[in-house]
Amino acid sequence: MSLILDALVLQRADGVRLLGPLSLSLVPGDRLGLVGESGSGKSLLTQALFGVLPPGVFQSGGTISAFGTRLDLPGPRRDSLRGARLAWVPQDPLQALNPLLTLGEHLALLPGLHRKESGRAALARLAPLLKRLRLSQEPAFLSRFPHQISGGQRQRLCLAMALSCDPELLVLDEPTTALDPVVQKEFMDLVLDLQRERGLGFLWITHDLAVAALACDRLLVLYGGEPMEAGPVAQLLSAPRHPYAIRLLEAARRQPSAESGFLPAPQDRPRGCPYQPRCAIRQLSCANWAPWLGAPDHGLRCERPLEPSPRP
Ligand SMILES: Nc1ncnc2c1ncn2[C@@H]1O[C@H](COP(=O)(O)OP(=O)(O)O)[C@@H](O)[C@H]1O
Ligand SMILES: [Mg+2]
Repeated sequence: MSLILDALVLQRADGVRLLGPLSLSLVPGDRLGLVGESGSGKSLLTQALFGVLPPGVFQSGGTISAFGTRLDLPGPRRDSLRGARLAWVPQDPLQALNPLLTLGEHLALLPGLHRKESGRAALARLAPLLKRLRLSQEPAFLSRFPHQISGGQRQRLCLAMALSCDPELLVLDEPTTALDPVVQKEFMDLVLDLQRERGLGFLWITHDLAVAALACDRLLVLYGGEPMEAGPVAQLLSAPRHPYAIRLLEAARRQPSAESGFLPAPQDRPRGCPYQPRCAIRQLSCANWAPWLGAPDHGLRCERPLEPSPRP
């Protein structure tokens, strides 16, 4: 296994749990989607993978490992993996890019760090990739700064940076959220082509079930930082079982739903199943005990799943 999260828990300094326990695994060639609404802990997960958790958030349980090396413990082997064999496309390119560095300098960063490559050598090696990503190699373009290019170009620049050291695994944190629909589709097609050609494994993080359904083979549905249901895309789309997964599918199909409410703040989340205050079929016991049933990559956290919702 290449990337393994085993019962990972992230929490605030005051003890409030923000994510987990969460287990998942990803190997090259895998297309795994992590789906959850805003505030469900998706970005914190990527930040934990890459060692950039915000101040006030820390890992309080579980393990993260990649290619046999613990990512949650310090060490030189770990540092040589991040950005090289395991790479990241951030949620907000403008925030992730350095306003003081040119595009060319950005592209040379990871090759310089991991391969001791000069900027010139890196750009020469990356020429086919840049062409593929429709990023000009003209000095006039590469000497621009991030704010001087379009949102779509910035996202493709982030993808070029992520691919600059030929990773085996890619984590994409809502990579298309900031883009308009046409550019979103174009970006997704590019990633899917590159995934096939390079045999990449990716973890595609999104709040949009429709995006995950197009991009992924397997899905993991998060709510309030906890996994609700996991399984193959075809099954989750045709026969979701957890009430929240059913709700997500109804929302993606713009169907009316009996359920209402919103994701509570982390400190207000209930015990037991985090979804139970909103759930139409909750039982008293759901407020105490909601075990995960099945395997981490194929199961759900509900003892009273609904019958699969009928297809429209
Ligand atoms: N630095 C922080 N300190 C405390 N809580 C945080 C911090 N960053 C994020 N959170 C909380 O963690 C939860 C998950 O955030 P995030 O991972 O950004 O969600 P998502 O990416 O799924 O929208 C949110 O409730 C958010 O308020
Ligand atoms: Mg996020």
